[in-house]
Amino acid sequence: AAENTGSGAGSGFVVVANRLPVDLERLPDGSTRWKRSPGGLVTALESVLRNNKGAWVGWAGVPNVDVDPIIEDGLELHPVPLSADEVADYYEGFSNGTLWPLYHDVIVRPVYDRKWWSAYVTVNRRFAEATAKVAAEGATVWVQDYQLQLVPKMLRMLRPDLTIGFFLHIPFPPVELFMQMPWRTEIVEGLLGADLIGFHLPGGAQNFLYLARRLAGQPTSRGSIGVRSKLGVVQVGFRTVRVGAFPISIASAELDEHSRRRSVRERAAKIRAELGNPKTILLGVDRLDYTKGIDIRLNALEELLIEGRIDPADTVMIQLATPSRERVESYIQMRGDIERQVGRINGEFARVGYPVVHYLHRPIPRDELVAFFVAADVMLVTPLRDGMNLVAKEYVACHSGLNGALVLSEFTGAAAELRQAYLCNPHDLDDVKDAIVAAVEDERDVKRRRMRSMRRQVLAHDVDRWARAFLDALAQDQVAGSALLTD
Ligand code: ADP
Ligand code: G6P
Repeated sequence: AAENTGSGAGSGFVVVANRLPVDLERLPDGSTRWKRSPGGLVTALESVLRNNKGAWVGWAGVPNVDVDPIIEDGLELHPVPLSADEVADYYEGFSNGTLWPLYHDVIVRPVYDRKWWSAYVTVNRRFAEATAKVAAEGATVWVQDYQLQLVPKMLRMLRPDLTIGFFLHIPFPPVELFMQMPWRTEIVEGLLGADLIGFHLPGGAQNFLYLARRLAGQPTSRGSIGVRSKLGVVQVGFRTVRVGAFPISIASAELDEHSRRRSVRERAAKIRAELGNPKTILLGVDRLDYTKGIDIRLNALEELLIEGRIDPADTVMIQLATPSRERVESYIQMRGDIERQVGRINGEFARVGYPVVHYLHRPIPRDELVAFFVAADVMLVTPLRDGMNLVAKEYVACHSGLNGALVLSEFTGAAAELRQAYLCNPHDLDDVKDAIVAAVEDERDVKRRRMRSMRRQVLAHDVDRWARAFLDALAQDQVAGSALLTD
């Protein structure tokens, strides 16, 4: 999908995201190396861009470094520097202390701090300026996620020749919650600098259309928005901005193939043996984030153990948790709570040498992660709110044998597509417990039928299809959009 002009006069296709796909790591001896960045955005976009030439503008993940552009796998990486204060105010502050909780249903109370906002404006401008330098005449630029919502408008003012797309990887909140934001009009106008604005779900796109009318005072289409179809339209002066729903996905075929490799199968069998060959392995895989509902699945497990509905002698839960945003207060607190909960469950129900909950607080190498997905009998995905949740789709892609069961929160974007999962309401603990028990105990045939249907969905709708749907819509003639407005 991505192309490069190859003329040496800048890139014809540029991705802009807060993070580069790799983070710079400083080693104790003072040297540095690059390692893969965390999170679903990188998982998805990296695979889209891997074999395509293009440029990626983003932060190298550590403060106060000014590194030269590098070329990795044919992809030009252009680092944008952030000072330590900017990391605190723009990244940890406005992005992850204000926008992240506000867009995830205020699970944690968002903090509205004028200093944070001003750092957000400054850093967004720096990203826009860096992108303006990298993009070739008439290039396509694809801006990613909540950290950079002002970039589309800033970039358009610098470079009116560019075609600009924006995709939001997290939920777009209900209007009532968005209205809390002191800088709500600036954000909506920032986004309206794009030619196409993409959300995971039609609901988010619809919320945005309403706000474009109400806050930016622009006329919009009124019809309902479809999935990858029936785009909405906002008329901004002479420009037509289109708004649509494009649910993101994974490199399904590749992961399916990876999970069938003999080395992975053998490693999965070894994991089960190392755990003492339990009857049931439950698995959680997340960034350590309060939106993920890790506490909820631990509460559910604890009650099921107390009630004797799950037997600690033949059940093991593995929770793999990547460290995330470790200096943000709500993350520090949540980590403490979860680690206490794991300790309490093991204190009550483990035997020496046989913990009930195995908890790893570190990123797991890809090969090993795939083996865990293959080994798991039941996958626990219980967020209170999640834009999509790629882990749910990854688990499904790893079960070509049609074994395994997915417990999935209704409050994820993935639940709109994986209707055959064991769906549950994470706010209703009894419902979560019942879903887990059903996923453990249901007949083999029932589970096979559910897995087959979910695999059909995930294999047919992969990340390339997502990128193509978005970029094709972005490339489409603008006039087609304006016609819709008169509907
Ligand atoms: P988010 O983007 O909020 O982190 P997603 O579920 O959409 O959530 O994407 C998370 C990505 O990070 C997935 O590709 C998943 O495999 C990966 N990941 C999550 N936890 C771990 C872990 N402990 N080790 C390695 N990779 C992980
Ligand atoms: C989610 C967000 C991404 C973010 C990732 C990791 O996937 O949508 O924008 O990069 O989490 O979070 P981090 O704060 O470490 O970049």
